Amino acid sequence: MTFQALLLSENDGAVSAELTELDEDRLPEGDVTLRVEYSSLNYKDGMILQGIGRLVRTYPHIPGVDLAGVVESSDDERWTPGDRVVLTGWRVGEMWWGGYATKARVKGDWLVAVPEGISNRQAMAIGTAGFTAMQAIDALEQQGLEKGQPILVTGASGGVGSSALLWGGALGHQMVASTGRPENSDELRALGAADVIDRNEIADNPSRPLLAERWAGCVDAVGGDTLAHVLAEMAYKGSVAACGLAGGNGLSTTVIPFLLRGVNLLGIDSVMCPGPERQRIWARMADVLDAPGVADKLESLTTDVPLADIASMAGDILAGQVKGRTVVVTGG
Ligand SMILES: NC(=O)c1ccc[n+]([C@@H]2O[C@H](COP(=O)([O-])OP(=O)(O)OC[C@H]3O[C@@H](n4cnc5c(N)ncnc54)[C@H](OP(=O)(O)O)[C@@H]3O)[C@@H](O)[C@H]2O)c1
Repeated sequence: MTFQALLLSENDGAVSAELTELDEDRLPEGDVTLRVEYSSLNYKDGMILQGIGRLVRTYPHIPGVDLAGVVESSDDERWTPGDRVVLTGWRVGEMWWGGYATKARVKGDWLVAVPEGISNRQAMAIGTAGFTAMQAIDALEQQGLEKGQPILVTGASGGVGSSALLWGGALGHQMVASTGRPENSDELRALGAADVIDRNEIADNPSRPLLAERWAGCVDAVGGDTLAHVLAEMAYKGSVAACGLAGGNGLSTTVIPFLLRGVNLLGIDSVMCPGPERQRIWARMADVLDAPGVADKLESLTTDVPLADIASMAGDILAGQVKGRTVVVTGG
């Protein structure tokens, strides 16, 4: 039996992708074999497809950090054929073969049952980006953030950002979108933004350690000088959930916002997030999606792309040109 896969090869440091058929006996070791129906495109997939950051050490390699599908066979008693499952993170798609294929073999520990009310395609419209966005909002709430207080979302047109607007807006938070693409403003408002600002307002590392207090919370997908600027604008006891580095992985700031305003800088990691927290976040997303109109909003930020076309989008996501979420229809 064969399966279809997007296979990455490396030659003299250059990574190339080819859609190909592989024998199922090429699948790696693992205790659950899945039929992969959908995957998705994340910023990290763009890096992997272009061989950036040495995230993949062994080639040939199947990328795709997310997947949703159906269990075909299992040596793990928790999973039986026919179960609908979602997998994000655990370094699948980088250390392990991932979701850009019609089949995958993985560890049962990594799987989450897709909650009732969420389709496998919706699970991938959410994917790592949507999961991370909910983790971030959840972390802000755990720090005491209340409804009605302004939450800034940086990189708002991207996967994490647009998902944060969707979840936060649906949960009744006052979301403010920061974007470099003002032409997306109406869509960002429709998703859940009460207001939209130009990202240039917050792009420089300020010369003063404290600026006027603007934000009670922030979901930051950008990092770098943007994060330094936002820290200086946080209100007393405000919290920033640091999720991403689309604008740079450096952080040059002062400790003054922490010392004089009690600002919290919260780290958000979706990849190694423990199983019980994963289940709680997925259950929370299922609850929110169940509210009137939210599933339609998720649909509005989602674009389907066939497996054959996904490699060509790597440069676009790294350049900040992809809007919302991209579901990869594998054909599995
Ligand atoms: N911590 C985790 O577990 C986790 C999980 C998922 C993602 N991430 C990270 O989160 C970040 C976003 O991921 P994503 O999948 O949402 O990517 P994405 O879809 O490409 O979104 C990133 C957005 O950031 C903005 N942006 C891009 N380049 C920028 C720059 N130079 N300066 C300022 N803003 C810029 C753009 O939004 P506008 O056009 O609206 O400005 C872009 O759409 C990435 O760094 C990714 O690695 C982390």
